[in-house]
Amino acid sequence: MDIEVLGRALTTLPADDDHPYRTGPWRPQQVERGAVDLEVTGEIPADLEGVYLRNTENPVHPAVEIYHPFDGDGMVHAVGFRDGKAFYRNRFVRTDGFVAEQEAGGPLWAGIAEDPRRSPTQTGWGARGRMKDASSTDVVLHNGVALTSFYQCGDLYRLSPTTLETLGKATWNGGFPSNAGVSAHPKYDERTGELMFFNYSTEAPYMHYGVVDGQDNLVTYVDVPLPGPRLPHDMAFTENYAILNDLPLFWMPEALAQGKYIAKFQPDIPTRLAVIPRHGTTADIRWFEADPTYVLHWTNAYEQGDEIVLEGFFQTNPQPPSGGGTLYQRMFRFIDNDQLRPRLHRWRLNMKTGLCKEERLSELTTEFGMINQEYAGRPHRYSYAATSPVGWFLFDGLVKHDSLTGAEEHYRFGDGVFGSETAMAPRIGSKSEDDGYLVTITSDVNRDLSECLIFDAADVSAGPVARIRLPERVSSGTHSTWAPGALITGWENDPTAGFAL
Ligand SMILES: [Fe+2]
Repeated sequence: MDIEVLGRALTTLPADDDHPYRTGPWRPQQVERGAVDLEVTGEIPADLEGVYLRNTENPVHPAVEIYHPFDGDGMVHAVGFRDGKAFYRNRFVRTDGFVAEQEAGGPLWAGIAEDPRRSPTQTGWGARGRMKDASSTDVVLHNGVALTSFYQCGDLYRLSPTTLETLGKATWNGGFPSNAGVSAHPKYDERTGELMFFNYSTEAPYMHYGVVDGQDNLVTYVDVPLPGPRLPHDMAFTENYAILNDLPLFWMPEALAQGKYIAKFQPDIPTRLAVIPRHGTTADIRWFEADPTYVLHWTNAYEQGDEIVLEGFFQTNPQPPSGGGTLYQRMFRFIDNDQLRPRLHRWRLNMKTGLCKEERLSELTTEFGMINQEYAGRPHRYSYAATSPVGWFLFDGLVKHDSLTGAEEHYRFGDGVFGSETAMAPRIGSKSEDDGYLVTITSDVNRDLSECLIFDAADVSAGPVARIRLPERVSSGTHSTWAPGALITGWENDPTAGFAL
């Protein structure tokens, strides 16, 4: 393995750190590296071409008082593939907040579990305001460039998908909605080149929806009026519509009026799902009511006759007990899937009757579902989701779900080994939906190393067809994406893209 050190962050984390989300599989990294000629067990498929991109929350400073894993600075990992070879790279996203805290030598903003009124810096980003935009939640590809995002709304940072160099913020030719930002999960439609997104805030109308075209122009941006401030996390789209949501889990209005941010599930308020034509107006929005729940992530949506079919993870217990246990135990129940019990679920929104029918698709607790992105917005059959160990925001295995037959294939990474959100990479010349590979990065605390695993998507339970050793154990994180080589700027013309140290 040839390794080059690309950079090193200043860190003020304690040497004897004992925070549960800054140790073990969440041990953060300070060094940025590039690596080629990686050690491979098995064989990297020659028809796997592109880059697996994964964002992580990677702190370099302790919190002001209470650290939450979603406070960490964005660090993106890339594993690129071409002609049976792989490269690796990890880089911090050079956000304004990261740069300012590097210069200051310590934390300048309060985290999500801290009182924003006591934040050292009273300006900042996020639906709540006074937060650091860590750009650490998701990474998506649009117009050949990687965009990193922040769940509380912020800028989108542009990164080279091969070098991971931060190229600046998305401006959308002057149209970027800087006053409200963009939330965690902008959605890329590979067929049209469009990027759909929403944002949310504590000020009316509380949500906006927008579309950016293949030339980086903001071509649609409309108000989505809600009854009050909400905490939406994800959206979905079909060929002709976008689906937004008003879920009954939000900051309590009375507390909010006093500057306190206390989110609670309201079991007596229905879930509301909004359907808007992709380039529609506020007046075009149609709302559907469904059973109360919170949905962190949708897997896909598509049109079928008079219906919009939506799939995602229905939390059967969105409000874990808030009392009892230590502070960390109380905090981290809200990111523990064993508490929230999300189950794959289908909503059918009938555009003629205005009614919603729903059904549970699986009895397994899973989340972070991915599909073959070539099928995004169109009928899909397969989703690939993560299982979690009890009590932890970690992924200990993956499940392939067949929405047609209900069949499920399961793979466990093994004790002490945790994967990342597993992306589906269609093989070059792919002929069917699961004709391709699943790619993930593990954090193995037993052997103190990380590997990139490649699975045959048509035979997940057989285990990985290749294991690629990475230079350092990678910290756990949240989201990832598959960037097909053909969609990356410069990939076609430069066979060395990513491989040159
Ligand atoms: Fe997310």
